[in-house]
Amino acid sequence: MEWQESFNIGIDVIDHQHRQILDYINRLEEIRVSGHRSKIQEVLEDLIDYTQSHFSFEENLLMQVNYQYLPSHKGIHDLFVKRLNEYRQRFEKGEAVENDLYRLLSKWLINHIQHDDQDYVDAVRDNMIRYLRTQEETKGKSWFSRIFS
Ligand SMILES: [Fe+2]
Repeated sequence: MEWQESFNIGIDVIDHQHRQILDYINRLEEIRVSGHRSKIQEVLEDLIDYTQSHFSFEENLLMQVNYQYLPSHKGIHDLFVKRLNEYRQRFEKGEAVENDLYRLLSKWLINHIQHDDQDYVDAVRDNMIRYLRTQEETKGKSWFSRIFS
């Protein structure tokens, strides 16, 4: 699966992490075909780890900008991590889940990016601008007081 322009939500750091997840999904697909179980296990673990830290990063960012739908967004993340772990367990028991997993991952990721993630972009951008403006005002004030005190 190739990255497409429409997958970008316009926040560089997040877009970069989403691309990284897509790379993991593609790697999983490549080795799924070659069939080395230990390799599959390795990629699966990296993928789950990376996805979890990406979710934490995103939730942290949304918390900082007071995103009002953070609880439900976090709920979606948690549910997805739960599903991934269920797959991991089934894989460890010897079940051939790679095919289903690949389909779930690619569908879920694109859908989540284009809908759920897209929804927070404006809130993040507005609050970032507001934050930068306050920073500037504070800087301006201290500059002002240094000159005129
Ligand atoms: Fe998200």
